[in-house]
Amino acid sequence: DKLHTAATIDKLAHTNLLRPDPKLDFIIANSKKNNLPDITVSPLQGAYLGIQARLIGAKSVLEIGTLGGYSTLHFVRAGANVTSIDISERHQQVARANLAEAGAADAAVEFVLGAALDVLPRLAREGRVFDLVFVDADWDEQYAYFDWAVKLARPGGCVYVDNVIRALLADGEDAVQGRKESLLTQVGRDQRVSATLVPTVSSHKLVSVDMFDGFLLAVKL
Ligand code: DHB
Ligand code: MG
Repeated sequence: DKLHTAATIDKLAHTNLLRPDPKLDFIIANSKKNNLPDITVSPLQGAYLGIQARLIGAKSVLEIGTLGGYSTLHFVRAGANVTSIDISERHQQVARANLAEAGAADAAVEFVLGAALDVLPRLAREGRVFDLVFVDADWDEQYAYFDWAVKLARPGGCVYVDNVIRALLADGEDAVQGRKESLLTQVGRDQRVSATLVPTVSSHKLVSVDMFDGFLLAVKL
């Protein structure tokens, strides 16, 4: 059916466009070995993040949600310094080890431990500014993170919010209504940005409904 056609095309893109990458493979394997949840961005999405960072010549990237540092490596490879926030000390430890093994310079990644909604106001008070903000954390806080991300982005900088479609589909009608109001509606009336939704299919996720997702991409005006 169409679902499988989409997954087949995704797989074709994956096998044809992406080259063997032992360092990214190591990050996936070592994260799994350390029992991190298997919820990183897909390899094609990772490639997208690297391309996006290069397109705007990003020198500074802010990540909300480090997990095992998979997306972090894409940003470092694109030539950016990354400030990466996670609420879990264990995630951060695994990510540190993963990036060291991948050969990322210590200076390229600043790990920040804490709840993003505590850390983000602090970064703003410190006058920090970022070229690109990658939001990949608690789905219920997508708009709160987005709002801080826009504050912290330079004009012409961009904000990427992962899992926007899955967040709308998950957890029943009330959550859907709440999240529709909190993300798409609010971004739609946010005069600071121009935004769009990019749907994705991910063949590396085996559960059918989980293959459909999408990310929100905004540019700060
Ligand atoms: C899942 C995927 C994600 O990218 C994420 O940030 C959280 C959860 C998932 O597949 O469940
Ligand atoms: Mg995600």
